[in-house]
Amino acid sequence: MAAAGRRAALYRSAARPAAPWRVAATAARVERGVLNDLAASIQSVGPTYAAVLAAIHAAAFPEEPWGAAAFQTQLEMHGVVGLLDKRGGLLVLRVTADEAEILTIGVLPSLRRRGLARGLLHAGLARASGLGATSIFLEVDMGNRAAQALYAKSGFSEVGRRKRYYANGADALVLRLELPSVSPA
Ligand SMILES: CC(C)(COP(=O)(O)OP(=O)(O)OC[C@H]1O[C@@H](n2cnc3c(N)ncnc32)[C@H](O)[C@@H]1OP(=O)(O)O)[C@@H](O)C(=O)NCCC(=O)NCCS
Repeated sequence: MAAAGRRAALYRSAARPAAPWRVAATAARVERGVLNDLAASIQSVGPTYAAVLAAIHAAAFPEEPWGAAAFQTQLEMHGVVGLLDKRGGLLVLRVTADEAEILTIGVLPSLRRRGLARGLLHAGLARASGLGATSIFLEVDMGNRAAQALYAKSGFSEVGRRKRYYANGADALVLRLELPSVSPA
């Protein structure tokens, strides 16, 4: 999801990557949390969790990590929702009026294929819907079969393509899912 386009420029300018030792130390703490708290579930997180999200992101996207400052900037923005699965997963989305966009989702490599991303995704869809979004979009690397399978299973379908969207020159698929409307209580 990290893109060479508009968002990536924003994040890079906002964020100098955290020092590698700091990311590694936080990742180690997250990993210890995995061992200590297997029953942990998903929680909403704000800017104070930026370093934790950055550590998970660095492990999930080693070629394009976002720094803690980037997450802090995002999570301070109106309409941005951060979700953390303390076992080692993250999702960040943004709701603007009736549209939502998944900015990133990732799971520690050692914890994949255990349903963490599915849980985060479904929690994110519920949050977006609750905040008034009627549809949600995302971009995914055309070569990212794992993520595409995850999204297909959750009902997303392709609505477009972006040529050379990523920093490595890869194309992106644009996927969309309609969300059920939530009637006000
Ligand atoms: C994509 C990613 C988030 C999936 O996380 P995960 O926790 O392993 O996914 P889940 O266990 O919740 O899988 C849910 C479904 O997605 C699909 N899926 C996930 N990983 C898959 C893989 N490697 N190959 C094929 N299908 C896969 C399966 O349909 C799976 O359901 P199943 O296990 O019942 O068959 C994870 O691989 C990751 O962090 N990748 C690096 C970051 C990334 O690419 N993020 C997405 C950017 S668009």
